[in-house]
Amino acid sequence: MGDLAVEAPMTEQALVDGQIDISNRLFSFVDSMTLKCAVELRIADIIHSHGCPLSLSQIASGINQNSPSSPPINQPNLQRVMRKLVQMKIFTKTYTATDVVYGLTPSSVSLLHDADITLAPFLLWQNDPTSLSTLHYLSACVKDPQGMVTGFQEGHGTKNVFAMAKADPEYNKIFNAAMKSWCTVFAKAVLSGYKDGFGKIQTLVEVGGGVGFLLSEVVKNFPHIKGTNFDLPHVVEMALDNGLISHVSGNMFEDDIPSADAIMMKNILHDWGDEDCIKILKNCRKTIGNNKSGKLIIVDIVIREGGPSSQGPLHDFVVTFDIVMLAHTSGGKERTEEEWKKLFAAGGFPTINVIDLPIYASIIEAYTE
Ligand SMILES: C[S@@+](CC[C@H](N)C(=O)[O-])C[C@H]1O[C@@H](n2cnc3c(N)ncnc32)[C@H](O)[C@@H]1O
Repeated sequence: MGDLAVEAPMTEQALVDGQIDISNRLFSFVDSMTLKCAVELRIADIIHSHGCPLSLSQIASGINQNSPSSPPINQPNLQRVMRKLVQMKIFTKTYTATDVVYGLTPSSVSLLHDADITLAPFLLWQNDPTSLSTLHYLSACVKDPQGMVTGFQEGHGTKNVFAMAKADPEYNKIFNAAMKSWCTVFAKAVLSGYKDGFGKIQTLVEVGGGVGFLLSEVVKNFPHIKGTNFDLPHVVEMALDNGLISHVSGNMFEDDIPSADAIMMKNILHDWGDEDCIKILKNCRKTIGNNKSGKLIIVDIVIREGGPSSQGPLHDFVVTFDIVMLAHTSGGKERTEEEWKKLFAAGGFPTINVIDLPIYASIIEAYTE
C-alpha cells in the first residue's frame, strides 16, 4: 500500500452516530428560523418588560397585545416553539407550584429589540429570504475559477450585498439596521480596547461607517474628535442625524476620502478580494499623503493559525462568517495576520500593529512607514 493512508474500519454504532450527526446538522437552519420566530414575536421583550419569568399564557397575551388587530395566537404551537428555544438554551423553563414559567438567559437578552446592545436586527437580516437564498449558490462559487460568482449574483442578479441594498430600498433598510445592531455589540470593546489611540486623534474619518453608529459612539466618548462618516449615497441618506458627526457620501474606490488624522474601517476590507482591498488602501494612502502620523484603524477578524484553541470560543463563528462572505460579497474573506500584513504593505502601509479585542474582531493599526 506504500504511503497511502488506510481508513480504519467503522463500527456499526459509529455509522449510526454519523447518521444522527448529519440528521441534526441538516436541520440546523431550523435553529436560526426558530430564533427568527422568537424575535418576530418579541418573546424576549415581553418577558423582559415584566421583569420576571412568564407562563405560556402570559407570553401569549403579550404577543396578542403587541398586535391587537390579529387573531389570538395558537398556544399549542407557541408551546412547541418554546420547547425548541428551551432546548437551545435561549430561554429557561422552571416549574412553579402552579405553573411552568419561561425566563431569559444571556442569549435571549441579545435578542431584545429595545436594548442598547442587540443582535435582533442582525439576525433578521441574515435570515431574511433575500440574504438566506444566496447560500444556495455556494457550490457555484466554488466552481468558478475566477472567483467572480457570488450568491447575490446567482440568486438575485445583483453583484453583491451592497448592490442589492442599492437596488432595493426595503433591503437597504434591513441591511443598515443590521449593521447598526452589529456595531452595538462591538462599540464597548472598540472604545476600551483603543482608548489611548482615540485619545491622541483630533480628526477621524470612518470609511463605510454605515449609518454612523460606531463613529458616533467614539465621538460621544472622546468629544475632542471631529468625526466624519463616508459611505455610499443610499446609506448616507439613512444615516443618524444626531449632531455628533458629519456624513459625506461617496465611493471609496473612486472618490476622494475626506482627510483626517486617522481613517477607521470596520468590517470593510473583509468584504473584498485582495485587488479591491489594495485599491481601497491606495485611496486611503492618497488621503493620508505626507502626514507622517496618519494611520488606519481597522476593525476586522484576524484568523489565528493555531486552530480553534487560539481563536477561543469564536473559532466556529469566524469560519462560518467566512462562508457568508463567500455568498454575499465579491471576493470578501477572513484573513490571517500574515495575509493582512501582505495586503497592507501592497496598499502602502508597510507596518501594522494588531490589538486583540474580547469580541469577534481585532483592531489593526496600519502605518505608512
Ligand atoms: C459590512 S458593512 C460595514 C458597516 C459598518 N462599518 C459596520 O461594521 O457595521 C460595509 C459598509 O461598506 C459600505 N460600502 C460598500 N461599498 C462601498 C463603496 N464603494 N464606497 C463606500 N462605502 C461602501 C456599505 O454601504 C456598508 O455600509
